Amino acid sequence: MLDSGRTQETLLEINNIEVIYNHVILVLKGVSLSVPKGGITALLGGNGAGKTTTLKAISNLLHSERGEVTKGSILYRGEKIQDLAPSDLVKKGVIQVMEGRHCFEHLTVEENLLTGAYTRTDGKAAIQADLEMVYSYFPRLKERRKSQAGYTSGGEQQMTAIGRALMSRPETILLDEPSMGLAPQLVEQIFEIVKSVNENEGVTFLLAEQNTNVALRYAHYGYILESGRIVMDGPAADLRENPDVKEFYLGMSDTGRKSFRDVRSYRRRKRWLS
Ligand SMILES: Nc1ncnc2c1ncn2[C@@H]1O[C@H](COP(=O)(O)OP(=O)(O)OP(=O)(O)O)[C@@H](O)[C@H]1O
Ligand SMILES: [Mg+2]
Repeated sequence: MLDSGRTQETLLEINNIEVIYNHVILVLKGVSLSVPKGGITALLGGNGAGKTTTLKAISNLLHSERGEVTKGSILYRGEKIQDLAPSDLVKKGVIQVMEGRHCFEHLTVEENLLTGAYTRTDGKAAIQADLEMVYSYFPRLKERRKSQAGYTSGGEQQMTAIGRALMSRPETILLDEPSMGLAPQLVEQIFEIVKSVNENEGVTFLLAEQNTNVALRYAHYGYILESGRIVMDGPAADLRENPDVKEFYLGMSDTGRKSFRDVRSYRRRKRWLS
């Protein structure tokens, strides 16, 4: 665990950004957050809260969706990055793993991993060594390395997508909804790997997740996003104990476990900020 009392270097800083789709749909309404070096920071929130939009704003991937950052700034190591091409961002050490574990379906697992090294100039031997590093975290991928990615399981595709990001030797990974569509045991396995990559390789993570329960067990710090606004943030351990978070996001309250449906209808009515 990170020592929360220590001043940490901030890698990524988002200041009060606004994002609009199609010139009219205001989706992020003044989002600010910061990501310290060496930590796992979780960006939490339900369906449509704006998590993916935030990550895409950082990687400058909104244009193809007719989205635009209309206010605020995004800094990496103090430098404005919101106009950089994604490949330039990769060279600065920031890479995004997209929601829905995008792999090149017709390439093998190993070929997919190698595409992650495309911006590197440090030679074949270094890339080969990193391929072994990825296989050490994901032994399953080594077994499946000759398989066509499109025919591997959802879990294996998520592993391939994360492994491909690691092949760029990133300083920071923006990981969008790694738990999506995976069985609980597999979700746990993937988060364990994220944790060991964070601890052993020193990779910083900004993790978007609907699965608050799992994310808050692995992250150091969390932000909760609702309808395009951050409604709460704090050390993960504090958020886990917060009664509102327990009730609305962890499906628990002092009176016992609530059904998902109850939580959902509460969620629609409640107001975090009065
Ligand atoms: N290309 C787009 N054009 C218009 N609106 C969009 C577009 N992409 C997303 N939105 C809207 O922006 C809001 C935020 O979407 P976003 O995908 O960022 O949420 P999310 O928190 O990642 O949700 P999920 O957990 O379902 O992935 C939603 O209301 C969504 O309908
Ligand atoms: Mg999303």
